[in-house]
Amino acid sequence: MNDQSATVRDSFSGRFAVVAAVAGSAIGLGNIWRFPYVAGENGGGAFLLVYLVCIIAIGITVMTSEFIIGRAAQKNPYGAFKALAPGKPWFLIGLMGVVAAFMILAFYTTVAGWTLEYFYQSITGNITGKNNAELTVMFDTFLKGSFRPLLWFLIFMGLTGAIIISGVRKGIEKYTKVMMPFLFVLLILLCVRSLTLPGAGEGLRFLFYPDISKLTPKVILEALGQSFFSLSIGMGTLITYGSYIKKNENLASSAGMVTLADTAIAIIAGIAIFPAVFALGGSPASDTGLVFIVLPEIFQKMPLGNIFATLFFLLLSIAALTSTISVLEVIVAYLVEELKMSRRKATIAATLSVSVLGVITVLSFGALSNIRVADKNVFSILEYLTSNIMLPVGGFFIVLFIGWFFSPALVKKELTNDGSLKGRYLPLFRFFVKFIAPVAIAMVFLYSLGIFR
Ligand code: PHE
Repeated sequence: MNDQSATVRDSFSGRFAVVAAVAGSAIGLGNIWRFPYVAGENGGGAFLLVYLVCIIAIGITVMTSEFIIGRAAQKNPYGAFKALAPGKPWFLIGLMGVVAAFMILAFYTTVAGWTLEYFYQSITGNITGKNNAELTVMFDTFLKGSFRPLLWFLIFMGLTGAIIISGVRKGIEKYTKVMMPFLFVLLILLCVRSLTLPGAGEGLRFLFYPDISKLTPKVILEALGQSFFSLSIGMGTLITYGSYIKKNENLASSAGMVTLADTAIAIIAGIAIFPAVFALGGSPASDTGLVFIVLPEIFQKMPLGNIFATLFFLLLSIAALTSTISVLEVIVAYLVEELKMSRRKATIAATLSVSVLGVITVLSFGALSNIRVADKNVFSILEYLTSNIMLPVGGFFIVLFIGWFFSPALVKKELTNDGSLKGRYLPLFRFFVKFIAPVAIAMVFLYSLGIFR
């Protein structure tokens, strides 16, 4: 049933599988690598506050809307808009999602490659005994090299493609149902160690005390972008996954559970990292290297630290893998359904073309670091454009579509599973999808462009 079967569409096997797969997509480097470093660069507590507002006011609504679109249409994002709004330009949103998928995969898999390097460095004992300065040098040297980052990137792309070739149930589901609980336990251990370091309180204050004077338009846009990135919303990943959700699953409560889990993991990662940053004398604004420098430092201050570090980077790679497969699936579903390729051919074509952009992205820290726009290298350009612009713009149109264009009867049908659920959230959802979410996204954009104060 992996190929474009005309009769029964591949689907997730049940409730737990749906939540696990969507959580697998949402939880990943976005929570553990990106959240701490972006929060660190954008003032800590003030950023967290706006981030949480974005999750509650916008995130859950966009996620639920994507599920509705995907499950109603049973198609990839482009095909879904074509099917639900024939002859209208909404399909452009789906197309932008496919383009965003290419861009995200290129830089995301780059970082996923770093986690493999750190897995390797921990298992071979190479981080043992290194202090902050030495770990910083180690990270910078690795990043600027060409061979190793490229090798790990290509290995990771290959792994992602291999899983996607085998399809939804056999591929995606099998890998997302296991392992995540282990990552959670390790994160908690890290928190305990970090919080018991002398001077840890300063880090907690940094993360949780909102210094309102730090709220600039930039901080607000970054928080919005991070909330979209972390929840995997705005580009049709969850339209695609939504199309594999069975008709008897509860869409709104699945969205709620995933959002809760994703947000909790990000905050827990913050609690693991910031106290240690302050206690061990690093800087919270340490750019993309933050967790690759601070976490090895914390592990060294724990008994059996090397074993834990090895396990941690292995699990982080797996968490990244359950996210990369969800992004690649967007491109593959598009190629299979719209261009009528076989699943195998589509996966190979997508993997190879992402790899071309990926190689440039990997090298943008070293050999190609002179390619810059507004002082950003290719990696940062892709990261900025996708998370801060394309995902929020996509999300804006997704909520507009569900709130103002899509038939309210069909929204009700999807949210109540054709009347079999009470749909208590329905009025609340309607209000958020029509007004709160689109207005909030628009306000952040106008504010960050300086049009609205
Ligand atoms: N949400 C994923 C993470 O936090 C990244 C991602 C973004 C996945 C967009 C799919 C789409 O790691």
